[in-house]
Amino acid sequence: MTSSPALPILQAALVDLIDLTLLAKQAHWNVHGPRFRSVHLELDEVEAELREAQDLIAERMAAIGGNPDGRAVTVQATSKVADIGAGPVTDSDAVSQFAERLDGLARRIEAQVGDLDVDPASQDIAISTIQVLDKAAWMFRAQTA
Ligand SMILES: [Fe+2]
Repeated sequence: MTSSPALPILQAALVDLIDLTLLAKQAHWNVHGPRFRSVHLELDEVEAELREAQDLIAERMAAIGGNPDGRAVTVQATSKVADIGAGPVTDSDAVSQFAERLDGLARRIEAQVGDLDVDPASQDIAISTIQVLDKAAWMFRAQTA
């Protein structure tokens, strides 16, 4: 079976989504400030949505003959998501960091979505993922003005 050109695009999205879910939990645990409760809860909601998105992508990869690689070592080596650093994070920093990183990933997937037209079902999953990321980015961005 010839390898689908969709696989590397989906794999790149997968590792970034995994990295973002890890960072969302990291921030969920370490956030502090006057908006602690809402940001703490929102980070968990986003983390759950990103996990669903990564499952759809990974299972699509498997369905088209690929081997999704979600190992920590692969995420560490290939993720394009910027780290947020260890230690405490203020609520305002968490909000802007996630607005930025969610938008960044949406734009990276968007830049490749045209190359997925060889595989409309994978393209559909990529577009749905962009929608999830854009909505979450907007909900953080709306708190920064
Ligand atoms: Fe929690």
